[in-house]
Parts: sequence; structure tokens; C-alpha cells
Amino acid sequence: MPLICFSSPKGGVGKTTLAAHLAAILAARGYETIALDLDPQNSLRLHLGIPFREEGGLFSDPPRPWRETVRGAAPRLRVLPHGALDPRRSMRLQADLLDAPERIAGPVREMLELPGTVVIVDCPPGSSGGLSALVPLADLLLVVLLADAGSAAMLPQVASGRVLGHGTLSNRLSAKLAMVLNQVALDQPLSKAVLSAAARTVGDRLIGAVAQDVNLGEALAQKRLLLDGSEGGAAEDLQMLTDAIVQRLGLTPAAPGGARRDYAALSDWGLAE
Ligand SMILES: Nc1ncnc2c1ncn2[C@@H]1O[C@H](COP(=O)(O)OP(=O)(O)OP(=O)(O)O)[C@@H](O)[C@H]1O
Ligand SMILES: [Mg+2]
Repeated sequence: MPLICFSSPKGGVGKTTLAAHLAAILAARGYETIALDLDPQNSLRLHLGIPFREEGGLFSDPPRPWRETVRGAAPRLRVLPHGALDPRRSMRLQADLLDAPERIAGPVREMLELPGTVVIVDCPPGSSGGLSALVPLADLLLVVLLADAGSAAMLPQVASGRVLGHGTLSNRLSAKLAMVLNQVALDQPLSKAVLSAAARTVGDRLIGAVAQDVNLGEALAQKRLLLDGSEGGAAEDLQMLTDAIVQRLGLTPAAPGGARRDYAALSDWGLAE
């Protein structure tokens, strides 16, 4: 099953927010999903309900196998936190992942071998050892940019597939690269202009656009995710982004007739199918 990596040359553009939502929406639609955090900020777990004080993860010291580190977040949704690391260890880890890509590629290959499992990875901004280790395995590399001038300047590099640099890494990822424009505000002329420029410049690589929406900004503070697309705004855009990704990757429907529902009480009573 597929590996989807969220990345960006820029920080603070919504990678973690979008990765968490895509993972939760896919799980709600019936796909077995693992959300993997490769960013030493260790923040993906917070979006998925892991308590702030529980800082352990895949790269914590001492290392533990991923199967012992993975946490249940919701039905069909598991999260593999990065784990808190001091800055020196964190820098060393990046170098290790470059020199020994199997350290992360091995566990991810095992996750992808689990039946019907989608793996979603949240990468740190810019190039990183983890991203370079996973590019050969990835099916889709989602570059997140904002609907602002700084991001607009990067559109030609998205179009050429060289947004994360030149050389072997960018050549390998070019075919897998798609872009999401985040925080689009259609009532703001600049935002509208960047959306049009993105559609013109990167063409088919533009896989989705997500509205600037205070509800999405506040979701983490409210310990909730925007999973109900009928709310409109970013929630609806996230559902459409998920549709586009499912289509691009040719994912087979997880549960015929829509998402499987969970009737927790029936499970407790031993009556669930
Ligand atoms: N569509 C949106 N509308 C409003 N706010 C948003 C939207 N998307 C993300 N945000 C807010 O933008 C901020 C940055 O989001 P997030 O942490 O997901 O970015 P990031 O790219 O993962 O950052 P970093 O590079 O630090 O890992 C957060 O406060 C988030 O709530
Ligand atoms: Mg992040």
C-alpha cells in the first residue's frame, strides 16, 4: 500500500496539520493508516490526541522497535511519534539517516507490507535525512506551500520538480511530486493571484487547495480534527484533497458503500461484525 510524504522547502506552512487530517480522514473512510513523524519537533502526535507529556517515539533513546512504539489514535489510525531528542542527538540522527537510510526505510517497508495499510509521513521543512531515505519508497510527495508571495516564488521549482534541491534526490522525487496550496483566502487579491499562478505554473502537480480557516488553525487547541466536510471551508477542502489523493494513487475503496462505522457499544457486547 502507498507511502505519502508531506514536505516543503518552507516551515510553518501546514504540513503537520494536513498530514494529521489526511491520516484521520483516510482512517475514517476505512483505510488502515499509520501516521509517522520524522520531524524532531515531535508535534504530529499532539494533533492525533497523544498527551503532551508522553514524549516517547521511534527515535527516543534507547531505540525500540517501531511495533513497540506505535500508538493507537482512533479506529484504524495509528501514530508513530518521532520522540523527543536533544538538539545534538537530533542533528546526529539526520546524518545517520543519510548514511544509513535502512534505519527508517526498513521499518517503513514493514509497515507498507501490512495488509491494506497507508503510511503518511510528516517531514521537517527542507531536505532531511528521513526524506532522502524514503523517497525511493514513496508513491506521493506532497509539497505544501502557502498562498503568499514567498511561496509563489517557488512555483517554478515545483513545476520542474526541483523544489527540494537539485541532483539525484530531486530527480528521483520529481515524478512523485504534487503540491497543495494551503491557507487560500479567496477574498484576498494576493491569495487569489497565487492560486491562479499555481494552477498555471505547476499544472497537474496542483492536487489540492485548502482554505485559510480559523477552525483549522484552532483545531489543535480544541483537541479536535476537522473531519466533517459538510462544515464547509477547510474541512470540505480536506475531504476533496483526500478524494484527489485516493484517485491519484488508485486506492481501492476501503469499505464498499463508504466508511465503515464503529459501533463501540456493539463491540463491548460482543455483537460487532
Ligand atoms: N488552512 C489553514 N487555515 C488556518 N490556519 C492554518 C491552516 N493550516 C495550518 N494552519 C495553522 O498554521 C500553523 C502552522 O501549521 P503546521 O504546524 O501544520 O505547519 P508545519 O508546516 O508543519 O510547520 P513546521 O515547518 O514548523 O513543521 C498552525 O498554527 C496551524 O494551526
Ligand atoms: Mg510540522
